Amino acid sequence: MVRIGILISGRGSNMIALAEAVRDERIPNATVAVVISDQPDAAGLERARNLGLQTLVIQRRGRSRHEHDREVIAALKERDVQLIRLAGYMRLLSPQFIQTFPNAILNIHPSLLPCFPGLDAQHQAIDHGVKWSGCTVHFVDETLDGGPIIAQRIVPVLDGDTEDSLAARILVEEHRLYAEAVALVVSGKYEVVGRRVINTSE
Ligand code: GRF
Repeated sequence: MVRIGILISGRGSNMIALAEAVRDERIPNATVAVVISDQPDAAGLERARNLGLQTLVIQRRGRSRHEHDREVIAALKERDVQLIRLAGYMRLLSPQFIQTFPNAILNIHPSLLPCFPGLDAQHQAIDHGVKWSGCTVHFVDETLDGGPIIAQRIVPVLDGDTEDSLAARILVEEHRLYAEAVALVVSGKYEVVGRRVINTSE
């Protein structure tokens, strides 16, 4: 059983989608060990509790990144977490955090990386005038949204799109893609060769 820890800061829709995928065994051999938020008022916390998940708030306020990360690491280790999933976690992880869980931290980003890393990816896509965008699940390394790509999915950018309408179209795909990518990583049927994540289950 792979024990997953999920870090959130906000609404937590990707966290819920993953928890449901685990519950429905679309991600076999996995369990959600804890949901940690750095924001005490994150809407996702209540949604997680409603699903019967253990939640924890570890506030960033008043702590340095180093101290905060140290507390989060300790909470994850106490619960034997092996795989960490960032789901709308609006904090950069310290190198110490990343080195503690090598190749075991996943993130989802609402663009086709390496296009439009960082904040407001949907806004960046509309501003640039691209005709297609999408989402990317990747391993987290010490670069911003730059670790090895596990899976991607595309969506069209329509002429009438606003940032919100594009974000909503991408979010539907995020929920599916993240569960599929986590299922692959939990299965262990992949290899990381340089920057490439090769699916060895096929
Ligand atoms: C998602 O669009 C995700 O790609 C980005 O932040 C948003 C989080 O949404 N990293 P939610 O909290 O999972 O609903």
